[in-house]
Amino acid sequence: MVTWVLKKILGSKNQRELKRLMPIVRRINEFDDQFKSLSDEDLRAKTAAWKAELADIPELEAQSRKLDEILPEAFAVVKNAARRLKDRQNSFTVCDQPMTWDMVHFDVQLLGGIVLHRGRIAEMATGEGKTLVATLPLYLNALTGRGAHLVTVNDYLARRDAEWMGQLYDFVGLTVGCIQHDQEPDVRREQYAMDITYGTNSEFGFDYLRDNGMATTREQQVQRGYHYAIVDEVDSILIDEARTPLIISGPATISTHQYDKWKPLIEQLVRKQNMLCNRIASEAIEKFEQGDVEAGGLLMFKVKLGQPRNKQLLRMMEDPEKRRAIDKAELSFYQDTRKEELFALKEQLFFTIDEKSNESDLSEQGRVFLNPDDPNAFVLPDLINEFTEIDLDPALPDEEKNKKKAERQQHCDAQAERIHNISQLLRAYCLFEKDVQYVIEENKVVIVDEFTGRKMPGRRWSDGLHQAVEAKEGVQIDRETQTLATITIQNYFRLYQRLAGMTGTAETEAAEFHDIYKLDVNMIPTNRPVARTDYNDRIYKTRREKYNAVINEIRDSHNKQQPVLVGTVSVEASELLSRMLKREKIPHNVLNAKFHMQEAEIVQRAGQPGTVTISTNMAGRGTDIKLGSGVPERGGLMVIGTERHEARRIDRQLRGRCARQGDPGSSRFYVSFEDDLMRNFGAADRMTKIMERFGLEEGQELEHRWLNKSVETAQKRVEQRNYLIRKRTLDFDDVMNMQREVVYTYRNETIDSEDPRKLIYEVIDEAVPAKVKEYLDVDEPNYTGLIHWVNTTFPLGLTKEKAQFDTRTVEENAQFLIEKIKDAYERKSSHEEPTAVKSLERYIILNAIDRLWQEHLYAMDALREGVYLRGYAQKDPLIEYKTEAYDMFVELMANIKNEVLNNLFRSTSNLQAFENFLATLPQFLMREHAPTAPTANAPARGRQLQPVGAMAAVGGDGDGDGAGEVTIDLPVRRSMPKVGRNEPCPCGSGKKYKNCCGRVA
Ligand SMILES: Nc1ncnc2c1ncn2[C@@H]1O[C@H](COP(=O)(O)OP(=O)(O)OP(=O)(O)O)[C@@H](O)[C@H]1O
Ligand SMILES: [Mg+2]
Repeated sequence: MVTWVLKKILGSKNQRELKRLMPIVRRINEFDDQFKSLSDEDLRAKTAAWKAELADIPELEAQSRKLDEILPEAFAVVKNAARRLKDRQNSFTVCDQPMTWDMVHFDVQLLGGIVLHRGRIAEMATGEGKTLVATLPLYLNALTGRGAHLVTVNDYLARRDAEWMGQLYDFVGLTVGCIQHDQEPDVRREQYAMDITYGTNSEFGFDYLRDNGMATTREQQVQRGYHYAIVDEVDSILIDEARTPLIISGPATISTHQYDKWKPLIEQLVRKQNMLCNRIASEAIEKFEQGDVEAGGLLMFKVKLGQPRNKQLLRMMEDPEKRRAIDKAELSFYQDTRKEELFALKEQLFFTIDEKSNESDLSEQGRVFLNPDDPNAFVLPDLINEFTEIDLDPALPDEEKNKKKAERQQHCDAQAERIHNISQLLRAYCLFEKDVQYVIEENKVVIVDEFTGRKMPGRRWSDGLHQAVEAKEGVQIDRETQTLATITIQNYFRLYQRLAGMTGTAETEAAEFHDIYKLDVNMIPTNRPVARTDYNDRIYKTRREKYNAVINEIRDSHNKQQPVLVGTVSVEASELLSRMLKREKIPHNVLNAKFHMQEAEIVQRAGQPGTVTISTNMAGRGTDIKLGSGVPERGGLMVIGTERHEARRIDRQLRGRCARQGDPGSSRFYVSFEDDLMRNFGAADRMTKIMERFGLEEGQELEHRWLNKSVETAQKRVEQRNYLIRKRTLDFDDVMNMQREVVYTYRNETIDSEDPRKLIYEVIDEAVPAKVKEYLDVDEPNYTGLIHWVNTTFPLGLTKEKAQFDTRTVEENAQFLIEKIKDAYERKSSHEEPTAVKSLERYIILNAIDRLWQEHLYAMDALREGVYLRGYAQKDPLIEYKTEAYDMFVELMANIKNEVLNNLFRSTSNLQAFENFLATLPQFLMREHAPTAPTANAPARGRQLQPVGAMAAVGGDGDGDGAGEVTIDLPVRRSMPKVGRNEPCPCGSGKKYKNCCGRVA
């Protein structure tokens, strides 16, 4: 009763809405009448005139108002053109098949067109001519010159519809393009440049990802914005496909083989070092026993440098006297005057480990041990210089150049890989202890939260450290490929300013379309009354009985030459039926949605007398089934469903395959109690009762209106459950989506920037004060640490005396450093070719973003899996995910900035230029610089361009900066969408925007 009342109201709401559109339909037809007297040229001229007019309206809203205003006239132009094509029996080929134009828009199609223009979903039954409907709003919206997209479910339909409807667009003076899977970027760009572009959802989505996540120049990008899109078969794309995101993956930057390869050597090296440290510790014990506390302290400091977790050392640190001696030795060595000594001390070890900054450095001895033959094995080539040389070589053709560049890049990557792997392995062996920082569970390395002691399944250390620990523990090293870019279909389509959809079946999912996409559904009446008979379901005890009954039904229809279309829910079911039919010697076709074009041809013929076609629900969708001669008299096409699908929508699709455009036709579903749907979601006891009451015998069937109802109840239950799953996926992806928008906007800004130095300076302006704060804005300012950081990141050769940090406030110190850094940078780049510098600057930022973003994606994936495991602790995984994702994002942004700083002076577009620069530096800089740069050849954490002899590669991201203190100011502030200050922050932190990303620094 309640649902009936609801339906009445809903139905009438839809009717009211449509009724309001009727005057517009009349206006279109009036214009169409007027236009009959125009010449072809005059009709076409309207297109150009509107285009020019719209181009003069820069404001989007005003443009959109203009579109509404000209809608009736514009639709009439399209309809009028369609009539001209029909009158002239215009013939052409579509997908190599000859065709003649025979359509003029019906009134219901005009209605559908208006609904689509308004950014809604037009539910129009199968065969109502949605392909033609779309031409109206596509034409109108393409007049803006911003591009209008039509999204199809497969490549074949994209091409078919583009070529078919292309006749009409061509006539009215618009261009049309079509994206196909195998197209090269150049071709794609041309297709997107057309007024209207057809293509599949995944091609559109992948182009977006490639443009925004991978292209490094504007020229490499193919798309040009997201203005208006119509999604055909919108339920299939936005609902069925919505559970799997689009992912571009590539070979992992961290190759797992290298960890395995280096592991034995590193193990040996670590053992040697430990033996050495133990020896030194024994010496120290002797010294302490002899009362020579100072010598003992010094020796133990050496142990600390080489093996910070040495057992003896840890024990001694518990003894106040010894501890004081060790600390004293340490302090004295960090005085500037003893730098050379400290350096010499380090060289007596194989490598040094800095627990605080989480870093490791190989000494000369260590390098020789690892690679006796190749002293250059730990130096990165100067890639940019090599590239410039290749570019300047006039003898090389472009193709050759690219090949050469790729080769050099590969070489550099391999080298960097090795350096990086070794450094991470050293950390894994020396700083990470099993059952302390991590545990091994089910052959996996699980991080233990250092504050709470809580296990964090699914979380991974970044930058290859996790793999290094995995190698150390001899467990499976995770993954060879990694996500380079990813987006869910939902979020791709949310990019469009206006989105519309069409399908035969949207009604059952109207709530979801509304909630998630803000798409409302309008049901458009059919052009002619539907003449289809839907029979009651037939219900059997077992599958076997059900299939036998299906075969009987097929045989009957086949014998009287009535065509049958049999729908299945799976490929297996299709094959089973096919075998049964073969045994019966009934000729038939099987479609599995694998070969779209061939299957379309088969489906086209499915209405011929006596034809039997078996098809999964996606196969041959969008292709018209025309009835053969004599078929209408035999009842038209018979549709048989061999199982009820999880969603009512899919069943309706199948039914709709027959009785198009007022044709006769019938449909029936066959169900058994063994079907998945019935077993899992059927009102089990009610069904059993029914069975008992009717005493269902072998081979007998049940058939009643009420039974259809209980099947539908089961379906509704599954629909609801699936909706929740999709909603959940989206909730999770929303967090990612905000982050992706921020990163992609920053990336595009970098690509587009005519003055990339400005961006670099912004990074300096923000990252340097943060670092300075970290060192100085604490109880005991760490001047030495700051100087160390500066000198290992920038070629400033700063000394305590020069810096005079203690004479200024924290802010003044930051300003002082910023000026020095910028000054040095100006000097460095003044020796270089200006355009080369610009691309280098862009490259520095892009490189930092890409490398760290990809790592971040991986970590986020892992987090997502992990929070579910943590969900046990009565916590909402989504909230856990949001907070952690936020922390990780803050860290990511800080890391990107630090990475840019680290590479600022390490990359140069030309070696000569770099040397020129070094020569201009004041002498003291060069001299003072030496002791702080012994690590130039050491394993670098960063794996990017590094010219020979350039600055030290220490410094980095893992230095324990409290993530909470870092603010993501730089890109966030600029590129976050408009958010009210009191609204929740879009980054997902749960805080108010003004207290989070919107905080004014
Ligand atoms: N105005 C019209 N006049 C005559 N024939 C038409 C008209 N509109 C559409 N048709 C015909 O109707 C058939 C079905 O069209 P189309 O494939 O576009 O339907 P559809 O609504 O997209 O169906 P599906 O749900 O299967 O995708 C086509 O053969 C087309 O030529
Ligand atoms: Mg269609």
